[in-house]
Amino acid sequence: MTKILKNTRIFITYVRLLTRNLFKLLLRFSLARVRNPTVTKKEYEEFAWASVLSLKEWERFESIDDFVTKRNDLRRRVCLVDGKVDYLTTHAYYTYRKKTLRYLVEPYLKEGTGIVELGCGWGFNLFSLADSIQKPTTMLGMDVSHNGLQAGRQVSEKFGVPVDFKHIDLLDDTHPNWKEVKSRVAITYYCLEQLANYMDRVISNLIKAGPELVIHIEPTRELSNPLNLLDFNSLVYSRARDYPGNIVSTILNKQDLGLVKVEKVQKKRYAPSLQNYPVFIVWKPV
Ligand SMILES: C[S@@+](CC[C@H](N)C(=O)[O-])C[C@H]1O[C@@H](n2cnc3c(N)ncnc32)[C@H](O)[C@@H]1O
Repeated sequence: MTKILKNTRIFITYVRLLTRNLFKLLLRFSLARVRNPTVTKKEYEEFAWASVLSLKEWERFESIDDFVTKRNDLRRRVCLVDGKVDYLTTHAYYTYRKKTLRYLVEPYLKEGTGIVELGCGWGFNLFSLADSIQKPTTMLGMDVSHNGLQAGRQVSEKFGVPVDFKHIDLLDDTHPNWKEVKSRVAITYYCLEQLANYMDRVISNLIKAGPELVIHIEPTRELSNPLNLLDFNSLVYSRARDYPGNIVSTILNKQDLGLVKVEKVQKKRYAPSLQNYPVFIVWKPV
C-alpha cells in the first residue's frame, strides 16, 4: 500500500473515532450516565462474554497461539504499536500484543510464584502468558462474570492449557476468594477501567488481600497531554465511557500513607485502535 493511501486511511480513522467519541460524550453528559456495576454487567456478563461463550470461536483453532493471535484474521486495522500509528493485519497486531504482554510481565515473576489476573474475562491474557513465558508458574483467572469464567474453562479444556478460573467481586471485601490473591503476582488488564467510581475501595481490598506484587496495565487519563492529538481523542473516549482518571493518584496516595511501594508508572502507547492505550503500573504492599 502506498504511503499516501495508508496516511489517508489513518486520517479517516482518527476523524471517525473523534467524531463518534465527541457524540458519545455529549450523550453521556446529557443523560447523566455513570459507570456502575449494572452498566458493567450489561456490557460483559450479558453481552460480550455471553456472546463469546455462545460462539465458542476457539473450536475453529488448532492451537492456543492461533486462537489468541487471531491467526485467521488478516484484515488490516489502524493500530498503535510501540507509540507509532501502524496499519497491520489483526493477526500481526495480536502477535505483537502477546509478545508485549510477556515482555512487561515476565521480568516480575519469580519461579514458583503464581499469577492471578483479576477481572480476567475469559482469560485472554492468561492464555497468552501461559503460551509464552518461560518461568513455570500457576495461572488463576478471577472475574465477576460467570459467562467469562465458563468460557475460560472451556478454552483451557480445549487446548489443555492449565489455567484455573474462580469467581470474585472486587468491590466486595468479604468475598471468600480474596484469599486466592495472597502471595501471588496480581495482574489487572483493562479491568480497573470499569471501576473508576470505586477505585479507592478496589485498591484497598487488593492491599488487604496481600499479593506479592501488583501489575496494572490499565488506561487512565492521568498521564495524557490534551495538546497531543492521540491523547486528546483518548481523553474524549475515556470521558465518554466514564473510564478512570484516578488509578495512579489512588495508588500514590496509598504510598503516601505507607501502605504500598510504587515501583513503576509508565505510559505505554499500544492498542488495537487509536485510543485507550494503557499505563503500566507496578507496586508492592508494604
Ligand atoms: C474490559 S474487560 C477485560 C477482561 C480481560 N482483562 C482482558 O483483557 O481480556 C473488564 C473485565 O472486568 C470485569 N469486572 C468488572 N467489574 C468487576 C468486579 N467488580 N469484580 C471482578 N471483575 C470485574 C468484567 O466482568 C470484565 O471481564
